[in-house]
Amino acid sequence: MDKVEVRDSGIEGKGVFAIGAISAGEIILNIDDSHIVEDMNTLTEYQKKYECDWLGDDKTILMQAPEKHINHSCDPNTYVKTIDGIREVIALRDIEKGEEITYDYAINGYYDSGIVCHCGSQRCRGMMNADFFKLPKELQKEYFPYLDNWFKEKFKKALEEVGKSIT
Ligand SMILES: C[S@@+](CC[C@H](N)C(=O)[O-])C[C@H]1O[C@@H](n2cnc3c(N)ncnc32)[C@H](O)[C@@H]1O
Ligand SMILES: [Zn+2]
Repeated sequence: MDKVEVRDSGIEGKGVFAIGAISAGEIILNIDDSHIVEDMNTLTEYQKKYECDWLGDDKTILMQAPEKHINHSCDPNTYVKTIDGIREVIALRDIEKGEEITYDYAINGYYDSGIVCHCGSQRCRGMMNADFFKLPKELQKEYFPYLDNWFKEKFKKALEEVGKSIT
């Protein structure tokens, strides 16, 4: 049974919301990564801006609903981890019924969006920075356990340096 629904968001455009209460650690949804983009020129400007996910080594995914509507927050309530080959959206903490599902685009992110962030959280960093390596060291330390396997593999060397500087 679906645990989420898509509706208008106070953060930006549409968002994804919890239909009922969700417990920390619970898998909320499986991400559909089957739509691999072979040629960016085939995409609309909207798809390029809103619907692409970059998984390293030129692997770009055209995101599907509902996950394509998940907004960024600087104080996220989920993260994404690959389990048995499927990327799962997992609750980082208990989530209340009706709460917007968010993740921090900087976890597993390696590009700078240059977009002003509208997450509205007390921890908002101001800009919707989606580059893990540009986060403050303390936040890199906090997010380290939530990095996905492909990201750890792709940035192995750089993350070793981060590991040394935060331990
Ligand atoms: C995957 S879409 C998120 C869903 C989108 N709101 C929709 O209507 O489908 C990603 C885009 O949403 C916008 N966005 C997401 N989170 C945001 C935030 N916290 N502040 C400002 N814009 C945000 C940015 O333009 C970003 O490139
Ligand atoms: Zn923010």
